[in-house]
Amino acid sequence: MATREWNPGELLEISGFFWKTCVLQAAVKLDVFTVIGDGRPTAGEIAQKVDGAVNGVERLLNALVAMELLAKTDDKYTNTPSGKALLAKDSSKYLGHIIMHHHHLLESWSKLDQAVKSGKPQRTRSSFSKEEWRESFLMGMFNMAMGLAPRIVPAIDVSSRQHLLDLGGGPGTYAIHFCLSNDALKATVYDLPTTRPFAERTIQQFKLADRINFMDGNYLEDPVAGRYDVAWLSHILHGEGPADCRMIIQKTVDALEPGGMIIIHDFILNNSMDGPLFPALFSLNMLLGTESGQAYSEEQITDMLAAAGARDIRRIAIQSPNDSGIIVGYV
Ligand SMILES: C[S@@+](CC[C@H](N)C(=O)[O-])C[C@H]1O[C@@H](n2cnc3c(N)ncnc32)[C@H](O)[C@@H]1O
Repeated sequence: MATREWNPGELLEISGFFWKTCVLQAAVKLDVFTVIGDGRPTAGEIAQKVDGAVNGVERLLNALVAMELLAKTDDKYTNTPSGKALLAKDSSKYLGHIIMHHHHLLESWSKLDQAVKSGKPQRTRSSFSKEEWRESFLMGMFNMAMGLAPRIVPAIDVSSRQHLLDLGGGPGTYAIHFCLSNDALKATVYDLPTTRPFAERTIQQFKLADRINFMDGNYLEDPVAGRYDVAWLSHILHGEGPADCRMIIQKTVDALEPGGMIIIHDFILNNSMDGPLFPALFSLNMLLGTESGQAYSEEQITDMLAAAGARDIRRIAIQSPNDSGIIVGYV
């Protein structure tokens, strides 16, 4: 591969990109896009509504205009159509939860050097952190999965399946989309008890409470009760070390009927562990946030599945914005 040539401008763009990150996150945190709504308020009017200092709010708004996230005419600010659709709380496409989750990761990322030196996390695991952070994490997962599930679920054939286990299913977004794709399918979302209210709310929102139930459990400590003919493990392996991943996969395989299908969805590295970019960065995010989590390669996941007795293991081709991938096996 040809060596990339860098110029100072490109390097400084990477180094300073967090300024833009912070502008977006502050605007979401202060709920600027919802406050503006369909109106044309001045900086002073917005400052009053967000309980901010006019000199600060005005500069934030002007930076948002410069970033083309807002528009400004005659000292009045308006939402752009996409800004309103994606960043105002009353929109069904609201991405604020995942943006706030990213905001909560910032402090730990600023200590990446310390994590690299010590090999130790620099924050509490999102699943076990305080309520407000857990909500952004879990509903952030909903934000992400709502974008991806309608695209990847059709690529996976569950048409002959009857009971899906969504292990570490969070708010249940994938269980919901699998059930929407197959009227005969029931699903069980298995997750920590603290996740239950979020999952139940989401399942209710899609009117699927008669087909999707929530099971409290800790997959590191508890058994996986019930029998299933398909299991979906999305973005859970990266939170655990290799030994726990093997144990989780074994528990799942043991809960499957003969002929059952196990599907792993995660940020999958290539076998030399140095790309694609997002999984490589995500592995650092797991260094910062977990005791032993990491991104795994296709070879590592395949080996874990084979060790648990899965066969016919193969990768399903999907297009995903963050280079997530899918590996399936059968028992
Ligand atoms: C990154 S989220 C993925 C959520 C969902 N599968 C998705 O792809 O949108 C990881 C999920 O695993 C759950 N989880 C983490 N540790 C767990 C454990 N020990 N037992 C059960 N669930 C756990 C978290 O609560 C969270 O819902």
